[in-house]
Amino acid sequence: MSTVFRDGILKDKVAFVTGGTSGINLGIAKALAAQGARVTVCGRNPDKAAAAAGEISKLGHPAVGLSLDVRDYASLDKALRATHEAFGPIDILVNGAAGNFPAPAVGMSANGFKAVVDIDLLGSFNACRAAFEFLRKPGAAVLAISAPQAFAPTPLQAHVCAAKAGVDMLTRVLAMEWGPSGVRVNSLAPGPVDGTEGMARLAPTDEARAQATARVPLGRFATIDEIAEIALFLVSPSAAYVNGAVIVADGGWSLGGLGMG
Ligand code: COA
Repeated sequence: MSTVFRDGILKDKVAFVTGGTSGINLGIAKALAAQGARVTVCGRNPDKAAAAAGEISKLGHPAVGLSLDVRDYASLDKALRATHEAFGPIDILVNGAAGNFPAPAVGMSANGFKAVVDIDLLGSFNACRAAFEFLRKPGAAVLAISAPQAFAPTPLQAHVCAAKAGVDMLTRVLAMEWGPSGVRVNSLAPGPVDGTEGMARLAPTDEARAQATARVPLGRFATIDEIAEIALFLVSPSAAYVNGAVIVADGGWSLGGLGMG
């Protein structure tokens, strides 16, 4: 798929992708597999995990689909050990598991706020913490799938804004702590992306979609492949000196210009 990278740039690498059973993260898992990586994808639904692994295997490399909840540290630890046993040392961790629903802060229960923060932020910490013993070597990379909500205050998204701001700060701290071991840690913040559950929830009608599109200077949503290409770059040796960065890929959506007419 890539025109920029050497073919097979991830040959013999092993990747672990949370939330990798659908949407952007499945697209990323496929992009990694297409470049030679052996990939484990995980998500809460076992049928979707098996189906995603089947899709990835068709690209010619073995893939495993596991069912787990990133809020459960022990289940992540077990899945990482299983990946290590099946494929060998883990080189790449993509933290894609995320939750979202649009609601005003006063219409959100404490448990609803906690559910999103726990999936996005605690889940990312859990995966990083559990994976570090496997990743700890030069050339390893962690990529958090963040969102522009991390730095652009967004009504109806208090939980996501808070969670993703935490995710990006976790990225920066781990980049400092783990850089000396050779492990790079970065965030990728996609804006609106077609064909995702997130956008189906945030812009469920044609009218909402048109309004969202009008706020993007490029005048369209991203495709999953466009975001996967950037993720591929960030975890590949092509980005060997990128560490602690938050790369925004939102068509200019978060620039939020005030306008004069
Ligand atoms: N509006 C308001 N509150 C909601 C809600 C909504 N649309 N959906 C869930 N909640 C609340 C629940 O009411 C519950 O709070 P309560 O116990 O006070 O009633 C809380 O969130 C947890 O819900 P539950 O269904 O038990 O938790 P969960 O662990 O399954 O997580 C989601 C719920 C919504 C966070 C999760 O299922 C999810 O995000 N799914 C979509 C995934 C997605 O869109 N991913 C892409 C992200 S960009």
